[in-house]
Amino acid sequence: MSGPRPSAPGAYFDAASTEPLHPAARAALLDALETGWADPARLYGAARGARMLLDRARSRVAAVLGVRLDEVFFTSSGTQAVHLAVLGGLRARRRTGRHLVVGQVEHSSVLHAAELHERDGGEVTRVGVDRYGRVDPAEFAAALRPDTVLACLQTANHEVGTVQPVQEVAEACRAARVPLFTDAAQSAGRVDLPGDWSMLAASAHKWGGPAGVGVLVIRKNTRWRSPLPDDEREGRRVPGFENVPGAVAAAAALEARHAEMAAEGPRLSALVDRIRREVPRLVPDVEVVGDPVRRLPHIVTFSCLYVEGEALLTELDRLGFAVSSGSSCTADTLRPSHVLEAMRVITHGNVRVSLPRGVKSPDVDRFLAVLPDAVSRLRRSAGMTTARQEA
Ligand SMILES: Cc1ncc(COP(=O)(O)O)c(C=O)c1O
Repeated sequence: MSGPRPSAPGAYFDAASTEPLHPAARAALLDALETGWADPARLYGAARGARMLLDRARSRVAAVLGVRLDEVFFTSSGTQAVHLAVLGGLRARRRTGRHLVVGQVEHSSVLHAAELHERDGGEVTRVGVDRYGRVDPAEFAAALRPDTVLACLQTANHEVGTVQPVQEVAEACRAARVPLFTDAAQSAGRVDLPGDWSMLAASAHKWGGPAGVGVLVIRKNTRWRSPLPDDEREGRRVPGFENVPGAVAAAAALEARHAEMAAEGPRLSALVDRIRREVPRLVPDVEVVGDPVRRLPHIVTFSCLYVEGEALLTELDRLGFAVSSGSSCTADTLRPSHVLEAMRVITHGNVRVSLPRGVKSPDVDRFLAVLPDAVSRLRRSAGMTTARQEA
């Protein structure tokens, strides 16, 4: 694609995929690699040291999430935490029933676990969303049945940032005596979490911790049975040797993010507001999607008519901006995003901008400066001109 070479540096705007390591995590990780390498299940000094580090990390995570120390289990990813929550929740209540309720715009880790349950003979109800990507709590409540054994509703959506009505749905689930699992991978460390769920999953690399560390919370009195072969690690909840340095770094990053949240959240949210306002003003035929108010501070998604999402991401990458798309045609998927489809909004030319901690206002200025030309170059090269460009 021809066009001007980037004259200024771009920026990393894909925090919803992963955040760069938080400085607090880096320091904790380097330290724990030296001091926390031993097997925390053994009885000698180095092992007791590793066990102490792991339990201290667990208590720091528990404090930030507002749960008990013995309700927190470290996993090897957010995805593994989700799979264990869904499949373990279903397995524990198999005698009561086999009906599962999930939101239609859940992360693929939830939806894939639900599909596995269906292939296994279980039944799944998927609750739809409005144009903002939000489930209706009354509709969700109406999907609960006497044989429903688990309900899943994300804390907020990973593609469009819309916050879900978890508290209202939790109340309906409580009344129906159905445990609620919430996937908080995009929310933990960024916003205060709603209470009253039975299980929660989160992912450390989303809040500036290392990749390969997830968190599974199972509240006391929640029935859960491992869907995997028996293993003694992590209170018999998560199989395999614990990643002690990873857990220590994850806890350090979560604590640091939580401490920064009151200042950083509104700052990022104001930058997102600016993008939401400016993109439709600067670029013709654009739809900004997701809830403009009840949303995460760092995510904004918009779709550009007459542009291929993948071509736009490539062009923005050439200009130095790392963004992603729910509906880009990656090597192994040609389907548009299930989230945007469920919302019945434009799926074409979709761009998700997700701002990392510390992003600066001039970074957003530069993005807004290059975006209109990038879009119109692609439209021109595809032989498209819009009414506003012709005027
Ligand atoms: C909402 C949501 N849930 C779960 C996950 C999976 O987390 P991980 O990347 O740690 O496997 C992600 C990651 O994109 C996510 O956004």
